[in-house]
Amino acid sequence: MKLAVLSDVHGNLHALDAVLEDIAGQGVDQTVALGDFLSGPYDPAGVADRLMALDLQSVRGNHDRFIVNGRKDDWEIDVLARNALSAAQKDWLAGIPATGRVGDVFLCHGTPSSDMVLWLTGIDDDGKAFYRSQESITREAEGVEAEVLLCGHTHIARSLRLGDGRLVVNPGSVGMPLAIGSPAAHYAIIEKMTHGWRSSLIAVPYDNEAAAHQALDHGYPTWADSVRSGWSLPWAL
Ligand SMILES: [Fe+2]
Repeated sequence: MKLAVLSDVHGNLHALDAVLEDIAGQGVDQTVALGDFLSGPYDPAGVADRLMALDLQSVRGNHDRFIVNGRKDDWEIDVLARNALSAAQKDWLAGIPATGRVGDVFLCHGTPSSDMVLWLTGIDDDGKAFYRSQESITREAEGVEAEVLLCGHTHIARSLRLGDGRLVVNPGSVGMPLAIGSPAAHYAIIEKMTHGWRSSLIAVPYDNEAAAHQALDHGYPTWADSVRSGWSLPWAL
């Protein structure tokens, strides 16, 4: 089995289309998606249209949940995305489950039990990324029977093997890479081989400047800087 894995599109249709074009040449059996699809000042409705047409097996992210349910101090980017969506698009978003499974592969946004916890990579108060320890990562995987656990949310790509042989893979972010200076559109491919699962973490170049202009048109210059550089906005998780 060979799967393409994408996560954290955050409304960036230019980045999503570059990833979808790349995936089309990879001969995968299926593409799965790990949430936070629409919250970004780029083209949330365009991303919703594209993903609804593709009907990928998906799990929802924390910002998908915030767009659907609202919260006490609604974040203006979630409000922007919500206001851009049609009723049909909101229904589609509301119907996405919190976790999923494709055979021996488990899907979640943050960790198996939370769409908010940064699992494989933390970000400190200065916005610097750090690798979380094997002990803390393994604790979050307790009780999940799967050969591969897929997660997103950190926007930072990482693949690691737990002591018991399970593989945990975060593909990074399609539309909003953070904190590590890699502004490409990131996704992953996993494939079952004779001795276990192979993982590839892929960074696809795309028209960052077009996405930056969408952010500027919406009045968000820091988001334009972020999509150009891949460095800022850790508070946006
Ligand atoms: Fe998230």
